Amino acid sequence: MIHRNKITTLTEFIIQRQSEYPHAKGALTRLLNDIATAAKIVNREINAAGLVDILGTVGKRNIQGETQKKLDVYANEMFITALKGGGECCAIASEENEKVISFSNEFSEKGKYVVAMDPLDGSSNIEANVSIGTIFSIYKRVTEVGGGTQSDLLQPGIHLTAAGYVIYGSSTMLVYSTGKGVNGFTLDPSVGIFCLSHPDMRFPETGKIYSINEGNYIYFPEGVKKYIKYCQENDAPTHRPYTSRYIGSLVADFHRNLIKGGIFLYPGTTKQPNGKLRLLYECSPIAYLAEQAGGKASNGINRILEIEPKTLHERSPFFVGPRSMVETVETFMRQNHKK
Ligand code: AHG
Ligand code: MN
Ligand code: MN
Repeated sequence: MIHRNKITTLTEFIIQRQSEYPHAKGALTRLLNDIATAAKIVNREINAAGLVDILGTVGKRNIQGETQKKLDVYANEMFITALKGGGECCAIASEENEKVISFSNEFSEKGKYVVAMDPLDGSSNIEANVSIGTIFSIYKRVTEVGGGTQSDLLQPGIHLTAAGYVIYGSSTMLVYSTGKGVNGFTLDPSVGIFCLSHPDMRFPETGKIYSINEGNYIYFPEGVKKYIKYCQENDAPTHRPYTSRYIGSLVADFHRNLIKGGIFLYPGTTKQPNGKLRLLYECSPIAYLAEQAGGKASNGINRILEIEPKTLHERSPFFVGPRSMVETVETFMRQNHKK
């Protein structure tokens, strides 16, 4: 008998999943395929970044006051173009655009979905050839006609239809969920196809890694300071001291922690009480993936997925990882909360 290892491509997998939803007409399938196609093109450009003069800043600042890199602009344009041309998405919120991009042409305004994205995450790492990513989240629109609006996008993560990320690393992967677990696909660059490589990704029950920008230590809340000291204590039964790992790319830090078992922390600080990460297009989609992988995501007190964004670019403290690790941080936060 001949045994053949069957390769499942991302396209096949998405279509198989569609058949699990009897009323699905293929719109989400087409939308996910559009995102995957844009990701491949962005990947090609990132790979070539060392060869062509695309590094460095464009000079403009994005609305967060951070200097935009050329690749941020390129990735943003590429995803917008793919989604606009696809016809399934009627509006986009992006880190790189102050306002919602509404598609009000006859073709796109029929789209049932809206997309919130961080087109290039970890972009300060580009020059150093360190892993970067794209984060995307998909919601059903709440308005009924015309181009999508801000109210279609300001939804809490519990209403997500799908979310995922692309990691441009030593290999490029697309990891996503439509609410039935998390699956990871690795790009075979020779043929340009994403192949299922990490089926049903789950956080380990607990972990030995903590990821935080410890340079900000003096600005952290008391609970976080105490938790860091807890991570560094010697306690064999709980495998402490933990190992510290911090890349400075949320996607790459989260991806490593998901596979190896670890917690990522970006707390509020005395300088930035809500931290740095953006609720709508960084925290919520990553929180959704974390929960789908059996983990937990919190702002220290509340579940990230239940927080309703009031504005497109609002920030939130962010703690994400295996359930037990996040619960420990929450306990420290509660115990050290200033009344
Ligand atoms: P972006 O490149 O989209 O602005 O995001 C960078 C984010 C995130 O990827 C990372 O976790 C965090 O910034 C790192 O911040 P610090 O440099 O303050 O540690
Ligand atoms: Mn980011
Ligand atoms: Mn970004």
